[in-house]
Amino acid sequence: MSRIAVVPGSFDPVTLGHLDVIERAAGIFDELHVLVVHNPAKEALLPIAKRVSLIRDAIDEARLPGDITVTSWSVGLLVDYCTEVGASVLVKGVRSQVDVAYETPMAIVNRNLARVETVFMLPDPGHAHVSSSLVRQVAGLGGDISPYVPRAVAEYLATGGR
Ligand code: PNS
Repeated sequence: MSRIAVVPGSFDPVTLGHLDVIERAAGIFDELHVLVVHNPAKEALLPIAKRVSLIRDAIDEARLPGDITVTSWSVGLLVDYCTEVGASVLVKGVRSQVDVAYETPMAIVNRNLARVETVFMLPDPGHAHVSSSLVRQVAGLGGDISPYVPRAVAEYLATGGR
């Protein structure tokens, strides 16, 4: 039986920390779906379709091996997508206890909703300080975000999103 996992998130934009988790998860599961989901609690920078294409560009550029699909979901619960594609596992990167505290209630609700288990994965400590919200802030104020994001993202934001 093949193990299918979903890596969900806002990915606004995808960071090197996300890419690290995607690479590690792709090495464990037979099939990986990177799923861009709108988070209404966060003010968006990039349109969903652009986030998807930047993740695809980053995966291509890093030549990540494995069976990786990148897509988005906006028509219901995250676990509905999991059921649709036969995924039994969600993978979430956790940088700190703060992330664990944020993710734990969602993990329990997702398990109760559809028996989908959540696996917490530790990114490389070198990425522990990297977040999309910090990248949005630094980019918005004209700072250099290239140490924190894939090249495609740095180039796209450097040109003002054109
Ligand atoms: O990168 P983020 O913003 O921390 O990702 C959060 C996200 C999008 C994964 C989360 O908000 C989510 O799962 N949204 C889908 C809606 C849903 O299924 N909610 C109920 C279970 S938590």
